[in-house]
Amino acid sequence: MNYENLLISIEEKIATVTINRPTKLNALNKATISDLSKAIKLLAKNDDVRVIVLTGSGEKAFVAGADISEFANYTIVEGAQLAAEGQESLFDFIENLKKPVIAAVNGFALGGGLELAMACHFRIASDNAKMGLPEVTLGLIPGYGGTQRLPQLVGKGRAMEMIMTAAMVTAEEAKQFGLVNHVVSQAELLSFTNIIAKKIIKNAPYAISKAIKAINANYKDGKDGFETEIKSFGKCFGTQDFKEGTTAFLEKRKAEFTGK
Ligand code: COA
Repeated sequence: MNYENLLISIEEKIATVTINRPTKLNALNKATISDLSKAIKLLAKNDDVRVIVLTGSGEKAFVAGADISEFANYTIVEGAQLAAEGQESLFDFIENLKKPVIAAVNGFALGGGLELAMACHFRIASDNAKMGLPEVTLGLIPGYGGTQRLPQLVGKGRAMEMIMTAAMVTAEEAKQFGLVNHVVSQAELLSFTNIIAKKIIKNAPYAISKAIKAINANYKDGKDGFETEIKSFGKCFGTQDFKEGTTAFLEKRKAEFTGK
């Protein structure tokens, strides 16, 4: 499938999705959000894909935010709808995906761009990356989950300060805060991300999907994460991969997981 604003490649079970609007610093207009939502849904069903990497095209930006030109004249109702539809179709969808999604943050990740990176399961940044939620400079607040996910990652006080001041943090600061896991040079960003992705691919896919579910349950209202963990742990015992993993260990060989 061809997308207006995305480039997609699949190699060695890693799908790399590149947001491709470099002249607009990859800002998320409606068409790009719709493309991303469709593409990720298809990749989620594709058995040739075990890990998804999200990145931005060009050397300057991952994503410089939601496209300001599209919502400049919105009403209260349209604003709320924009946030609700985006959260459901893309941001929450990524967070709850059964396959790992890694953000390779290659430059500015601002507003909706940082929110997109935070919806991914974890983040790796290039050393030129700058991150922030500058919505209050536009008379807005973050609308794609930023007020919820930023405090989960960096703590309430830091999130309050970042959102109220609209200040950008450097990649190194983001690492100190726990917002990104690793910082590497821009030239090495995708190869380093692929090394991490390959480590994940060696492991049992069903178990990984259940780990995502159990970890996410910790952050969901009305969910008992320990209960989710118990049920998910139990279900793993019914998989062929569990038999393969334990048998391979006892036979002192490497496990060959199928995801079944
Ligand atoms: N929405 C729409 N267009 C955007 C955009 C956004 N969020 N961010 C950047 N662009 C566009 C610019 O309008 C410009 O387009 P033009 O060349 O047609 O005028 C192009 O991308 C390049 O951006 P520019 O501002 O010229 O680059 P810069 O290097 O001077 O500044 C930033 C880079 C990231 C600091 C600046 O673009 C910026 O502040 N962007 C908005 C960030 C933001 O507030 N995001 C939150 C949105 S909710």
